[in-house]
Amino acid sequence: MKRPYVILSCAMSLDGYLDSAAPRKLAMSNAADFDRVDQLRAESDAIMVGASTVRRDCPRLMVRGDERRLLRLAAGKPVSPIKVTVTASGDLPPDSAFFTEGDVEKIVYCPTPSLDRVRNRIGRVATVVGLGAKVTMADVVEDLAARGVQRLMVEGGGKLHTQFLVDDLADELQLAIAPLFVGESRAPRFVEPGPFPWTASRRATLADTCRIGDVVLMRYALSDRFQADERTSVGELSARS
Ligand SMILES: NC(=O)c1ccc[n+]([C@@H]2O[C@H](COP(=O)([O-])OP(=O)(O)OC[C@H]3O[C@@H](n4cnc5c(N)ncnc54)[C@H](OP(=O)(O)O)[C@@H]3O)[C@@H](O)[C@H]2O)c1
Repeated sequence: MKRPYVILSCAMSLDGYLDSAAPRKLAMSNAADFDRVDQLRAESDAIMVGASTVRRDCPRLMVRGDERRLLRLAAGKPVSPIKVTVTASGDLPPDSAFFTEGDVEKIVYCPTPSLDRVRNRIGRVATVVGLGAKVTMADVVEDLAARGVQRLMVEGGGKLHTQFLVDDLADELQLAIAPLFVGESRAPRFVEPGPFPWTASRRATLADTCRIGDVVLMRYALSDRFQADERTSVGELSARS
């Protein structure tokens, strides 16, 4: 079965961080860029984040724009994409907006040995799926494909991005750079160290860039499945911002 088209999306500081280490989450982007992300969500069948992002951000991960929601419904899709996360610890709060917001499916992947424990904790609010001794992103995308997901948006954090990139499972990266420094070594980075496929001898392809207010968006083609002209064009975004 063909794996979903995978887009990694995040906003990082000039020094490569996704957030600060302070108790309150740091907003990296601006309103126009959040609107771009909303469009990307509206075009996806599923949105995935890591368990730390669920714990830290309590993300709703719902399409916000009314017109976008209506267009999805008119196309016979759920109002917002399936929400997906992955955990080994099972430490996920069932009252997080990730689980409570929106009448859409929520899927939690975990190692099979942890299945009973994770089901006991959040089985009431999500479909919990055991995926072998250790969850790999290859198994996640295969399982999502079997559930009909053709387009997956991965919204971080860094541990999740790292696995998709190292395992060469991403087709596209949309990286927004915010005009600020974080400067804290304990803060989460865009990616962790790893054997990334893109190196000095295999450079990634920069497909597009645009300015969105005070943020710069860079769009990289990471596979030959990259959909250059489909859906949200970065050129259109610069015209809008
Ligand atoms: N600026 C942005 O665009 C953006 C976007 C998203 C997130 N963020 C920020 O990024 C930070 C979180 O990033 P992060 O890198 O620390 O964490 P993360 O990627 O959000 O989540 C990591 C956690 O996910 C679970 N996990 C990941 N891979 C797994 C696997 N293969 N098997 C089982 N469980 C797995 C583990 O959860 P357990 O510990 O439960 O086992 C792991 O600790 C937050 O501060 C958030 O605000 C920023």
